[in-house]
Amino acid sequence: MQIIETKKELKDTLSVNLLSSKTLGLIPTMGALHKGHISLIERANKENDTVVVSIFVNPTQFNNHEDLEKYPKTLKNDIELIKTVSDQIIVYSPSIKEIYDDNITAENYNFDGLESVMEGEFRDGHFNGVGTIVEELLTSVNPDKAYFGEKDFQQFQIINKLVELKKIPVEVIGCPIVREENGLAMSSRNERLSTSTRKEAALIYKILQEVKIKFGTKSALEITEWVKSEFLKHEKFKLEYFQIAETTTLQPVKIKSKNKKYRAFVAVFVDDIRLIDNIAL
Ligand code: PAJ
Repeated sequence: MQIIETKKELKDTLSVNLLSSKTLGLIPTMGALHKGHISLIERANKENDTVVVSIFVNPTQFNNHEDLEKYPKTLKNDIELIKTVSDQIIVYSPSIKEIYDDNITAENYNFDGLESVMEGEFRDGHFNGVGTIVEELLTSVNPDKAYFGEKDFQQFQIINKLVELKKIPVEVIGCPIVREENGLAMSSRNERLSTSTRKEAALIYKILQEVKIKFGTKSALEITEWVKSEFLKHEKFKLEYFQIAETTTLQPVKIKSKNKKYRAFVAVFVDDIRLIDNIAL
């Protein structure tokens, strides 16, 4: 398994690849890998000759310093997990200095309003940080396909917009959400929940499934009120936002249209751990 830490080594390794006209797949991650990440890596491994997994905890996308400090760093374990898919996969794990030098700042993007709703509203500057690192990775790795999880659906749409704006020649592929047995969307943050709270957190997906049923007959407003009241019944849960939005613009639904697709999005604190999830309606 090849582990690369510098842009120079990355370029040298991938130029060999380019000459042999092999297809290249990239999966950007922040490490602390779990089955959700692995599903992306497996798919990329099936669809490409060469696969690069980047592992980089990107400081500019954290608006909360404590969250950044607490972000788990489990590189050894991550490498072992990646090996279970294939030992031919290239791991790109640069330092902060390698990516940002001494200027740890994000570019300012205009993502046509995608950046100002939901996660963007509650995590100031988050998507500028995501855009900065993903643009850097896409241009230095130059993959044919890049894989993102629908767990972070807003991020996935932002990346689509980024690629369109910057004319980056890559196919952006969205992959389904991988869930724990009880329905809780897999996340490295789940590790911070106690065993009992982790069980109770299944409530989030239960509510989303119920929302999907209600969306057939009830208005978005009625559903939103119902979701708020459901979370209020459970002391451990503090709802940050619930939003039914149109899939491409991510603007809140006002009047349902038959030719449009919608998704329900939720962010909720469970024992002070912030979890997000979403469901196609
Ligand atoms: P990270 O949270 O490590 O996630 C890496 C990729 O794995 C993202 O595309 C995310 O949507 C996907 N993923 C996470 N949990 C998943 C699940 N349960 N099911 C399916 N896919 C899942 O997202 C980031 O890192 C960063 O913002 C990044 C894009 C790497 C930029 O720094």
